[in-house]
Amino acid sequence: MQDWCRSGRGARWSCGSRAWSDVREMRLPLVLLWLGAAAACGPGRGFTHRHPLRRVIPLVFGQHDPNISENSQQASGPAEGRITRNDEKFKDLVPNYNPDIEFKDDEGTGADRLMTQRCKERLNTLAISVMIQWPGVRLRVIEGWDEENAHYENSLHYEGRAVDLTTSDRDRSKYGLLAGLAREAGFDWVYYESRSYIHCSVKTESSVGTGAGCFPSGALVHTENGTRDIALVQKGDRVLAADDTGKLVYSEVINFIDRDPNATRHFMQVTAENGVTITTTPSHLLLLAAADGWREVFAADVEIGDVLLTRGPGSVMRPSRVVKKRMVARHGVFAPLTQTGTIIVDDALASCYAIVKSHALAHAAMAPLRWMSGWGSTETPRGVHWYANALYSFGDYVLPSSYRYR
Ligand SMILES: *[C@@H]1O[C@H](CO)[C@@H](O)[C@H](O)[C@H]1NC(C)=O
Ligand SMILES: *[C@@H]1O[C@H](CO)[C@@H](O)[C@H](O)[C@H]1NC(C)=O
Ligand SMILES: *[C@@H]1O[C@H](CO)[C@@H](O)[C@H](O)[C@H]1NC(C)=O
Repeated sequence: MQDWCRSGRGARWSCGSRAWSDVREMRLPLVLLWLGAAAACGPGRGFTHRHPLRRVIPLVFGQHDPNISENSQQASGPAEGRITRNDEKFKDLVPNYNPDIEFKDDEGTGADRLMTQRCKERLNTLAISVMIQWPGVRLRVIEGWDEENAHYENSLHYEGRAVDLTTSDRDRSKYGLLAGLAREAGFDWVYYESRSYIHCSVKTESSVGTGAGCFPSGALVHTENGTRDIALVQKGDRVLAADDTGKLVYSEVINFIDRDPNATRHFMQVTAENGVTITTTPSHLLLLAAADGWREVFAADVEIGDVLLTRGPGSVMRPSRVVKKRMVARHGVFAPLTQTGTIIVDDALASCYAIVKSHALAHAAMAPLRWMSGWGSTETPRGVHWYANALYSFGDYVLPSSYRYR
């Protein structure tokens, strides 16, 4: 059974069925095959009923979680040496301009905004849960990367891996719960260190892998003016995609979930009988032909004999069997998010999403981002878009409970 939830304009979600008559209207016999029955959402289901926040356990003053030392491998790991502005490693620190976070910037140098990518992602995730937990309150960073020797020897602040945090209202009664939320947001070690702030830190980038799914430089998309390298696609371009009835349409690129021209990753290359070859990260969702429409499958899980949907003549898609798959290394990672949530890349149909198992779900949950195309405009579009990253890491509690264990 395939639920198909669609976001309406405004703050409401609605779920509907793809009526048979809608399909007939399209007069697209080839597509018809896969667009048979799509069930409506039953009563009481759908996105108007959000799952409340999972119960988060506050830390007590002086407690740290996990209950081991900060530098143990299971927490944030050993210190790897101070980073100064002249170091090669300095370029690994990224500035955080998230407008939903307040930076105290005592030093007046912007140093508090500099942090490792992992630290930034966790912080941006926590910023969202703070706004959800206490409407009107924001996350506040009082100390980030330190270049002034203000901390004890081997402090992770010297490596851009630690932040000291409060809430914007500086209400001390919130800090225990803030620490609990920080743990949920994925900080590797959280310490309710002082009555006036909490301390959080993360592992090094090299000790952990990174996540989201994308396409490499050189992958081709179609615009109204012909094919274009995905690396050259800009926000606002219209690229070929499929609408929720399976028809090929041009859809606006709203934002990039991930965009990093310099990264090198391993990609899964899937080749169909008709020669169409799509290259995408293994955790990216491809939309394959199925009896009742399409089904979403991680690129890594595609099997020989599965049926890719490839670009056909006009607005119709052409099915073709998978004959080969292999891993390749490629340069550049690009994950454009279109209005329809789908995209034709290298002539094959893919979802714009990765990691989360349901395309429809991810598409619905990303609606705020699709409406507010101005979001993230203050942020250089490099790396996983912070909202997408928060969505991926929140997973089961941003999403409605009725979908959690499907
Ligand atoms: C943390 O570990 C210490 C020492 O093993 C123990 O005494 C303490 O009760 C633990 N604290 C928590 C909150 O589990
Ligand atoms: C396509 O070409 C037309 C005419 O040359 C131009 O006006 C338009 O901006 C182009 N569109 C894109 C998306 O490049
Ligand atoms: C990518 O690498 C080039 C050359 O090493 C560098 O000039 C450029 O600034 C980098 N771009 C990004 C977005 O990191």
